[in-house]
Amino acid sequence: MPPDAYLDQAWFERERDLLFKPLWQFIGLKAMLAVHNAFITRTLFGIPVVVQNFKGELRAFENVCPHRQNPVQVQPQGVRPLFCAYHGWSFDKEGATANIPYEDALYRYRPEERACLHLRRFALVCVGGLVFVNLSADPLPIEEQFGAEMLAGLTAMSSSFDGEVIMTTYDGQFNWKLAYENLRDAHHPRFLHGRTLFKETKFQAEVDESGLAALRRLQAGGDVADRGQALDRLRGFSAGGLDSPMEKPPSDPWHALIERYRHLDGAYHDFYYNWLVFPNLHIASANGGYSFIIEHHVPVGPGRTDLIVHYVTAKKTRPYAQSAAVLHASMMAADAVLREDIDVMENIQRTLHPGARPAQLGDFEFENAGIQHWYMSLMEGRFAI
Ligand code: FES
Ligand SMILES: [Fe+2]
Repeated sequence: MPPDAYLDQAWFERERDLLFKPLWQFIGLKAMLAVHNAFITRTLFGIPVVVQNFKGELRAFENVCPHRQNPVQVQPQGVRPLFCAYHGWSFDKEGATANIPYEDALYRYRPEERACLHLRRFALVCVGGLVFVNLSADPLPIEEQFGAEMLAGLTAMSSSFDGEVIMTTYDGQFNWKLAYENLRDAHHPRFLHGRTLFKETKFQAEVDESGLAALRRLQAGGDVADRGQALDRLRGFSAGGLDSPMEKPPSDPWHALIERYRHLDGAYHDFYYNWLVFPNLHIASANGGYSFIIEHHVPVGPGRTDLIVHYVTAKKTRPYAQSAAVLHASMMAADAVLREDIDVMENIQRTLHPGARPAQLGDFEFENAGIQHWYMSLMEGRFAI
């Protein structure tokens, strides 16, 4: 792709409007929204969003008070009614203004003004334990983005999540696309993660001849013909499940206290599990389904991405004293691997400049080449999602 795709602010804004706004985006884990008034706030591609639990119902709104634009919820997560701390306005589950203190004496809105005082609502869907939102006024059905099989896989996997979550955020100095490209490259772990991840799992890159042939046909045929075909290809960018066998069966004392994830076939597998959720979510289990890492790459600017990472185990059979320590240990183990990837992506970002030559992908990188071909057609306005 041209260097501008990674560097240019106008390109970044176009990508927000053409790609991210129409698509369903992951925003957080249902486990963090389990009780009445629990909320999370995230800024998705510059748009502040709050998800709030109203007596068990999850609702998503733009996190901007209609009075003077103060964020209604300020913390990244917590348990607090939906009201604005600046002048005390509160909101109901429809986003309508429930109470404006001193309304009659001080604000004196006319009825037609009063009717407009509500939060902007966004569509929200739960897929198992994962919460997705859509920022467009007319969202496409989520099945059209992921397909039934992928949604069933995500539901089964994330329904195994426990309610205890630990999370952290990396302030990455790289373009978000470098992350999805990195994740679809099975050849780098033997080099970059030789002392960490690759020790336990021998990832093998392969050339998928039929996938490659399909890509060549697309490249020869030029563009995506219509929206239906574009969505069909989009669904092919997300996939997941069993990835690579582990060198040794996973074994830690706390595994005995966990209901290990059973794969869709009903069996346990000593495998590295990997779910790639296009465009910017990655979920993996490096221990055959005892615990999971959920990596959310949130674009902030052309050269900045917040990498929000959640760690959960599969459900506990009973509470145990060391569960927080287990999550912390898994965060520290993943940190070593994540930093190896982040270093490379930041080095690439630093090296790119407007006159840089585009990447030269090999045949094993046909998935990234396919996404690139689709993405460039979208950015050039040949179809819209
Ligand atoms: S800005 Fe929210 S109540 Fe005034
Ligand atoms: Fe990596």
